[in-house]
Amino acid sequence: MGKRFEDPRMAAPTTAEITAHTIFSERIQTIPRSFIREILKTALEPGMISFAGGLPNKDLFPVEALRIASEKVFRTHGGDPLQYTSSEGLPELRAYIADRYKKRGVKGVSPDDILITSGSQQALDLLGKVLINEGDRVILEEPSYLGAIQALAFFRPTFKTVPLTEEGLDIPALAEALATPAKLMYIIPNFQNPSGISYSKENREQVAEVVKKTRTYIVEDNPYGELRFRGEPQTSFKNLAPDNTVLLGTFSKTLTPGLRIGWIVAPPALMDKLLIAKQAADLHTSSFAQRLVHTYLVDNDPDVHIAKIVAQYASQQMAMTQAIEKYLPSSIKTTRPEGGMFLWATLPNGISSMKLSDAAIANKVCVVPGHPFYVGKKDVSTFRLSFSCVDAPTIDEGMKRLAKAVRIACPDA
Ligand SMILES: Cc1ncc(COP(=O)(O)O)c(C=O)c1O
Repeated sequence: MGKRFEDPRMAAPTTAEITAHTIFSERIQTIPRSFIREILKTALEPGMISFAGGLPNKDLFPVEALRIASEKVFRTHGGDPLQYTSSEGLPELRAYIADRYKKRGVKGVSPDDILITSGSQQALDLLGKVLINEGDRVILEEPSYLGAIQALAFFRPTFKTVPLTEEGLDIPALAEALATPAKLMYIIPNFQNPSGISYSKENREQVAEVVKKTRTYIVEDNPYGELRFRGEPQTSFKNLAPDNTVLLGTFSKTLTPGLRIGWIVAPPALMDKLLIAKQAADLHTSSFAQRLVHTYLVDNDPDVHIAKIVAQYASQQMAMTQAIEKYLPSSIKTTRPEGGMFLWATLPNGISSMKLSDAAIANKVCVVPGHPFYVGKKDVSTFRLSFSCVDAPTIDEGMKRLAKAVRIACPDA
């Protein structure tokens, strides 16, 4: 059991891998498989309670409304949504997104600034293609979103990490990181994945002040921003450092991830290059999926739907924090995010979360140990807990099992 989830980066190469060395690009050989995808296979084992997944809850997908919208798309548009379309994306959908930014107080986003992508994950790939030469510096939060580390690593940048505090980015560390030019700085200022941390108003202002003195792009990824349970929404970096900011958006967490509709908001010169990269990558994002999402958005009130998601995730988060207080030793610190899908926990005394993860799996509960969210660290004390797909009684039982694993793997905690 112990070796089951060893970081693939650490594993000795197999014969097949040595043979592959002669045919595969150097680029692909340096990128590990997604550790989370591996652990999710374990999550599917019978009887396992999973706090590991990062998926939205499928019971909340508006299946019936999408079925009705889908029929309307065929009735109204015939074969058009099954045809090739423009690389920029459906004009009506881009106009809808621009208008929503305006309503949310994000200034200066016009439909022409928006490129529809196949999820925000593709936006990361396109940005890498357009901006990063081998060895260029890329700044990441520490910890950061695993999918971004993986997407950007393809372009072989030099990653520089800036620690997250409860308030946001560590400002002295950011200033030091930006003292040497960096191409981009990838951040998730609202309910971050994995930590759940959101940047405070003051922290945003300080970050913007530092970055505005440079030519670094702030890439603000915001998949969870609309899933707020408590507290006040904070402003986007687009309002604080407009010339430096690129926005990433997605319908994955507020509607459904399966349609793969995301977008990128970029200034004209960058947009010009992103469009070339998009054309080369896949010509355009699914015409049908774009038309379906737009029809759904126009014929329904997406805010009513989002309120439903928020109510359910808020109550599941509450169940999880209560179960933590009930069962886990108080020496294990956890974040209390005001929204999103994750809690982030830290074991005391530098105890490895990998050890806990193995014991947890043996007790039929799984979490994601923290190391895949770091660049170049393999033994960390942090781990991620997701509450989006587990109901309150299951959360309670899962936390009981996790507490047992803590007693076995970390008796000093
Ligand atoms: C921070 C972050 N960015 C991007 C993504 C990818 O989202 P999409 O489905 O839009 O590609 C995720 C998905 O979990 C995420 O957590």
